[in-house]
Parts: sequence; structure tokens; C-alpha cells
Amino acid sequence: MTRLIGMSGSLRSGSYSNAVLETLREKFSGRAEITIWDLGTVPLYNQDFEGEKRPAPVKELLSAIAESDGLVLCAPEFNHSIPGVLKNALDWASRPAFTSVMAYKPVAIMATSRGALGGARCLEHLRVALDSMLSRVALAREVTITSSADKIRDGRLVDETCLGFACGAVEALLHEIQVWGAATG
Ligand SMILES: Cc1cc2nc3c(=O)[nH]c(=O)nc-3n(C[C@H](O)[C@H](O)[C@H](O)COP(=O)(O)O)c2cc1C
Repeated sequence: MTRLIGMSGSLRSGSYSNAVLETLREKFSGRAEITIWDLGTVPLYNQDFEGEKRPAPVKELLSAIAESDGLVLCAPEFNHSIPGVLKNALDWASRPAFTSVMAYKPVAIMATSRGALGGARCLEHLRVALDSMLSRVALAREVTITSSADKIRDGRLVDETCLGFACGAVEALLHEIQVWGAATG
């Protein structure tokens, strides 16, 4: 079973981004195990506490990422960028630079927005940040779940078009994991 870690960067109960991850967790059950990680316990990044000095929740997150086959990131756009909670987790995970648990890790990315036009800039910034840590963003059509309040009901993504795009990104991720696994043995 392919093991994936899902992270959103929203700590809000009733988060639309977490609802998307939950929907994907259900959709892909049987093919992939998606563990949705609670980033609420991860402290702010501090370079004084790297390596063995990492706080316990950070060690736990990094071990889970290392043991996973890939990540599914579904972030709400915050101020035209990545929510700080997710960026903070990625900053911890990106160290040591270029040899971290994020290096060559396959990742699917998607963004949510309550607005009609949001999400694209968050995706762009996410892509740039992941590029800097040498992660492999799975090639897929861009997934921006706009007007998210209209597309999520009872904690699940119910809009068929958006769901198709989101599932497409996870399919691309699974393909990337398969190809990468075959290439590296
Ligand atoms: C600090 C903050 C900044 C935001 N900035 C944007 C933004 O730049 N673009 C956008 O489309 N929505 C923005 N939003 C709205 C969020 O997309 C919306 O609140 C979303 O539902 C939050 O995601 P969640 O439901 O997963 O918690 C912002 C919300 C907050 C709290």
C-alpha cells in the first residue's frame, strides 16, 4: 500500500482544505493510505534546534515524511501565498538543505480559496518552495478549488469537476511514485 502524508496548513475546525484531504483519503482508500497530519503541535522553526535537538513533534513529522512514499499538500491561500503553518512545517522538513526528507520526495499540490479567483498564487509559491528543497512535484493539471464554501458539504468535496482535478493530482502522484520507484529500484 502506498503511504502518503496529507498536510494543509489550516488549523481551523471545519477547514475546507482538510475536507479536501479527507475526501481524497476516502477516495483512494484501498490504493493509498493518506495520513492527514496535524501541524498544530509543530513549533516555530528555530535553527538552534536542528538535528538531534529537534523538538519531538518535529522529529515525529520528519520520520513520517521519511517513511512515506509521497505528500499531498492542499493549502488555503493566505495573503496570496502559503499559510505560515504549512511553510513552517516545510522549513523544518527541508533541513539539512538538499539532503532532507523532502529531497526527491514526490508531492501533489493543490490550493483552496473561498474567493472566486484565489489559490493560484499559493500554488505558485508552494511550487517554488518545493523546488528549493528538491522535491518532485508531480506533473498534473493545476488544482485550485475556488469558491470552496460552495463546493464542500458536510466536510467533503462534492463538486465533481474539482474532485476530478484533485483526484487527477493524486493519480499523477501515484504514477510519479511508481516511475521513481522503478527507476531507483
Ligand atoms: C490570514 C488570511 C489570509 C487570506 N488570504 C487569502 C488570499 O490571499 N486569497 C484567497 O483567495 N483567500 C484568502 N483567505 C481566505 C481563505 O482562503 C479562506 O478563509 C479559507 O477558507 C481558509 O482555508 P480553510 O477553510 O482550509 O481553513 C485568507 C484567509 C485568512 C485567514
